Amino acid sequence: MTLYGSSSADDASRPSRKAITLPRLAEMTAGGEKIAMLTCYDASFAVLCSRAGIDVILVGDSLGMVIQGETSTLPVTVEQMRYHVACVARGLAGMAGTPLLIGDLPFASYHASPATAFDHAATLMRAGAQMVKLEGAGHDNAWLAETIAFLVARGIPVCAHLGLTPQSVHQLGGYRVQGRGDDQAERLVLDARAVANAGASMLVLEVIPAAIAARVTEAIAIPTIGIGAGDRCDGQVLVLHDMLGLYPGHRPRFVKNFVVGDDGLTRDCESAVRAYVAAVKDGSFPAPEHGFER
Ligand code: KIV
Repeated sequence: MTLYGSSSADDASRPSRKAITLPRLAEMTAGGEKIAMLTCYDASFAVLCSRAGIDVILVGDSLGMVIQGETSTLPVTVEQMRYHVACVARGLAGMAGTPLLIGDLPFASYHASPATAFDHAATLMRAGAQMVKLEGAGHDNAWLAETIAFLVARGIPVCAHLGLTPQSVHQLGGYRVQGRGDDQAERLVLDARAVANAGASMLVLEVIPAAIAARVTEAIAIPTIGIGAGDRCDGQVLVLHDMLGLYPGHRPRFVKNFVVGDDGLTRDCESAVRAYVAAVKDGSFPAPEHGFER
């Protein structure tokens, strides 16, 4: 796609690959190939991410912060998520070799009952999502495991999200490292097993010690995708605006600005995303300084 429609020159410049599906992601994990995931919220960046070889696009509720200027993800609504999922899906329409598209279920959209979760997930799937993501622990929270199983049984693939779950920021007392200490680490492993057993196909691990993320990754068969969780997850995700150095204010230590190359020179956005994909695939990102110790 260009501003005025699709262009064969765009297609010609892209490496040829098949569209990324869930079985393909499982195959990549089994074969030891890392999964490169980024958030994305609009059509233009969706085309750019796809051309640059991103495997999975997450239309994250982080859009509340980087697009809308809110101080948390809590104000984001299902209708706003539907709008951005549709924007991204329109960008990808007609392209070959597109990333898998995940839509985030926002705060309070899946908690009341499995049936409400299903209705909201269906809204995102109709807009073009191929999977939905929801946050929370599956072990103590039987309702969450039940909701995951309810969605999966009805044909909606689910990505779970553990560790620092931003929708619970007030309960967690801020955006802080999770899973520190033996009890918390043990709980994370139990939670991961519970969401995997409930049928989740993927698990995001956010801001937990690298050693704990490695333990969780070994404990379950589904791919783990880390953000501030060390290099031993099956893949990595970053917020697009963070890795492009666009988000004003505090930059968390797990973020690397890929617009500035190791040579100190700046690159265009597509080259930055390509550099991110290459660094995730060859294991050079995240480096130890992007992670947390026990
Ligand atoms: O909303 C989001 O962008 C996310 C990622 C940080 C994983 O959940």
